[in-house]
Amino acid sequence: MTTKPPHGLGRDVANYGDREFSHYLRRSFASSMGYSRAMLEKPIIGIADTASDYNNCHRGVPELKEAVKRGVLAAGALPFAFPTVSLCEPSLTPTSMHYRNLMALDTEAMLSAQPMDAAVLIGGCDKTVPAQLMAAASADVPSALLVTGPMLAQRFEGERLAACTDCRRYWARYRAGDVSAERIGEIEGKLATTSGTCGVMGTASTMACLAAALGFMPLMAASAPAVHADRLRFAEEAGTLAVQLIRHPIRPSQLITPKSVENALRVLLSLGGSTNALIHLTAIAGRAGVTIDLRRLDALSEETPVLVDLKPTGEGYMEDFHAAGGMVALLRELRDLLHLDTIDVYGRTLAEQIDAGPAFVDRTYIRARETPVSPVGGLVALFGSLAPDGAILKRSAATPALFETEARCLVFDGLEDLASRIDDDALEVTPQDILILKNAGPLTPAGMPEAGYLPIPRKLARAGVKDMVRMSDCRMSGTAFGTIVLHIAPEAAAGGPLALVETGDRVRLSVRERRLDLLVEEAELGRRRAAWRPPARPKRGWDRLVHDQVLQAPDGVDLGFLRPEGH
Ligand code: FES
Ligand code: MG
Repeated sequence: MTTKPPHGLGRDVANYGDREFSHYLRRSFASSMGYSRAMLEKPIIGIADTASDYNNCHRGVPELKEAVKRGVLAAGALPFAFPTVSLCEPSLTPTSMHYRNLMALDTEAMLSAQPMDAAVLIGGCDKTVPAQLMAAASADVPSALLVTGPMLAQRFEGERLAACTDCRRYWARYRAGDVSAERIGEIEGKLATTSGTCGVMGTASTMACLAAALGFMPLMAASAPAVHADRLRFAEEAGTLAVQLIRHPIRPSQLITPKSVENALRVLLSLGGSTNALIHLTAIAGRAGVTIDLRRLDALSEETPVLVDLKPTGEGYMEDFHAAGGMVALLRELRDLLHLDTIDVYGRTLAEQIDAGPAFVDRTYIRARETPVSPVGGLVALFGSLAPDGAILKRSAATPALFETEARCLVFDGLEDLASRIDDDALEVTPQDILILKNAGPLTPAGMPEAGYLPIPRKLARAGVKDMVRMSDCRMSGTAFGTIVLHIAPEAAAGGPLALVETGDRVRLSVRERRLDLLVEEAELGRRRAAWRPPARPKRGWDRLVHDQVLQAPDGVDLGFLRPEGH
């Protein structure tokens, strides 16, 4: 018997009891794939392959994977790609969010179970990057992240289109009757025309930027377009980097720290980024034992300007952000607000990364500190009798005139109730009313979908109403906009005060005071509470596990048993 290498296939293994036999069997089976003995003795880089015919955002993964492999081979290791769950935002029922933790669990298990010395995780679409970083944090395998990159915008009749912000904009006009059925059909084929993730600052783009801020990839790799040759160069580099991680391991637990998480929050705020990213960052940080306090987020929001002017809140697309210097340009502007001694997966400090990056190209889409899009951050946290554990509002996407609202509410009891009544011409609703959706949180069969962007009731939309105060215990798409209170915790299905709200109650939103209150007498609430019944427990499978384990929004909607002990 030759001595086995201490890495790759040679890693300690005893799954057949006898160690030598376990190695012997593993090697002989691997050699059936046609590798030479010399190759099989090299260290192994695992590559999480998320190509899927269901996932348009990951269409480029096969080509990226080949480029990663090239980088791995050139650096002297053996690349082994393996499939994991892949989640594409519009393809999953009840919602992709319901399966983020499944992908995280799958990825963590495969990172831990298979012989590998470091990993490259290829992600992109909204839930995939959070799932992979949660997995990496829990497995604590040295890992580089490679995102598929944003799609390019499509030129169309003098404007540009790139996925869902424009998709929602046109759909709202179609609902209001000023875009015809024929035209909406034509636009359908123009909204997403290249591979890659949604080309606006939605959840996928926001998460890519946060992952770069946490140090999992080079800063410019967050925004290089999916179809650009640089994207392939970043893939090759991720492969080379992963091999470097074998000799100089930097583990996810070294990257995800209180300081780097705070940097990531600053980035989220200055991007005017997706509300979903807050839940995901909370979950990722939670896996590393780092807590995000909503009140801290709120304090950071008061002193972090929005500098990025991209849709859905602004004008540009991800390709503009990239051309304007991407994360390097942004972090350079935010420099004095950041912890500059955090490290990335190369071991470089944030200061070094910022200094090494390209110079500014233009200030149209990444503003200077003196001329911000907004002097304060994009998100605020709200607390009050309707949300004892918190709720959030994306003020950068909201209508300031609605920030201080006290009004009668119109309550929908779940997604079906919403769908069946919202467009009814007999619906008793005025533009001043607050629309509330309950029973759509993480504990419900709906799985906390992106339904928080309640449509404006059709009769009001036709009358020209563009925004109303809307509230729910679910989420909204990172590409949506409006005066929308989200993630109310505890959710209705957990028996939170939201469960007790009824049509006609008065509710008060105060962004100035950061309050969200239900103005109903305690005696009346007590009567309603006594009559409240929790929802049924799903009978089996993943739904049952989620129901039994899922945490609320302020804990990142992770599953309790996947969090580190003591957290
Ligand atoms: Fe995949 Fe938008 S649908 S990123
Ligand atoms: Mg999205």
